[in-house]
Amino acid sequence: MQHYKMNLTIQVWRQKNALEKGQFESYQVKDISSEMSFLEMFDVLNEQLLQEGKDPVAFDHDCREGICGMCSMYINGKPHGPWQANTTCQLHMRAFKDGDTIVVEPWRAQAFPVIKDLVVDRSAFDRIIQAGGYVSVGTSGNTIDANVIPIEKQKADMAFAAAMCIGCGACVAACKNSSAMLFLSAKVSHLSLLPQGQPERKIRVLNMLNKMDEEGFGACTNTNACEATCPKEISVTNIARLNLEYLNASLSKQD
Ligand code: SF4
Ligand code: FES
Repeated sequence: MQHYKMNLTIQVWRQKNALEKGQFESYQVKDISSEMSFLEMFDVLNEQLLQEGKDPVAFDHDCREGICGMCSMYINGKPHGPWQANTTCQLHMRAFKDGDTIVVEPWRAQAFPVIKDLVVDRSAFDRIIQAGGYVSVGTSGNTIDANVIPIEKQKADMAFAAAMCIGCGACVAACKNSSAMLFLSAKVSHLSLLPQGQPERKIRVLNMLNKMDEEGFGACTNTNACEATCPKEISVTNIARLNLEYLNASLSKQD
């Protein structure tokens, strides 16, 4: 594709902190290369703001290669922007054309309060993981290497697909109820499908679901907006598995 340059209007949500009201502010950026990444375009905008003596836009990022899940931007009404199965850091400016106006907002969910501008507090996800998203492994010196445990290919593939979740929170941002069911279902599925996840299987799903409710995420109403927006294409079939895991764990608790 031919390389081209663009002049753009960027409307960005500016908010000092969780307590103060925010508002959109409009900026012009010039000579943006179609080869730049979306975050590089933000770097240019921030350099410009610094040169003008203004506060740069705060935004989250780390790996810039679709792995860490930090780059949470709601771009033109879609988490991570217009491309399918893609994170904000992997979005390139060739997705836009000269003269475009791009509207950028933070994830909006009660459980993800704004820290500043486009940065939200996603520590609720960490607390859900702390409630059960792990396996306990004995370190006696006789521990069997995980790679020597035989696992059916189909199950290994399903567990791997669920483990692709990078915890970005786009599923929550896309959901009209701010539900975290896709995220949670990926974490529960990943471990419940593997032999290593069996000892804590039942208590895990109960504890993680309770924590999710406690953190203020909404209920799932099966609109599938989460799956449609997920950069790692996590399937809603994981939510069906999560419901089954929850039912089994709840029934055996009553025995
Ligand atoms: S399920 Fe998808 S959208 Fe949700 S946190 Fe995981 S990777 Fe992000
Ligand atoms: S910055 Fe790591 S996934 Fe985007």
